[in-house]
Amino acid sequence: MKKNKVLIINGPNLHLLGKREVNIYGKMSLKELEKAIRKEAKKYNLNVDLFQSNSEGEIVNKITSGKKWDILIINPAAYTHTSIAIRDAILGVSIPTIEVHLSNIYSRESFRKKSLISDIAIGVIAGFGPRSYILALEAAKFYLHAKKDK
Ligand code: DQA
Repeated sequence: MKKNKVLIINGPNLHLLGKREVNIYGKMSLKELEKAIRKEAKKYNLNVDLFQSNSEGEIVNKITSGKKWDILIINPAAYTHTSIAIRDAILGVSIPTIEVHLSNIYSRESFRKKSLISDIAIGVIAGFGPRSYILALEAAKFYLHAKKDK
């Protein structure tokens, strides 16, 4: 059976996971998180492409590179709240998108309550720490399956 391709993007400062504000983001490093994602993706028979960048332009370049993915799971990190460029890139290639956050952005500072991605996403998963990504993979599988049956 053909594997669906999932692009998973982590935005700025997420390379610091495990060291950065551990009271909010937890102790798991990005490497450990990526390992857990790969393991879970295998279960769901999904092919994952993992990408982290601190640069808005690199994230835009990745999304618009011309490579075809069936779905995008993205934690745009601080760019969630500022990046029209990432929003436009997602719209530009019409890729179904799931927005993910480790923390519940709606229970934090008011500037984090506004996302420029949420309204163009299929859905948003926030507040479950590293498990947010695992839930997003499940959501991706569910979405791709439902699409196939249409
Ligand atoms: C974050 C929340 C953002 O507000 C913040 O800038 C991040 C991480 C999260 O995963 O909870 O860098 O996206």
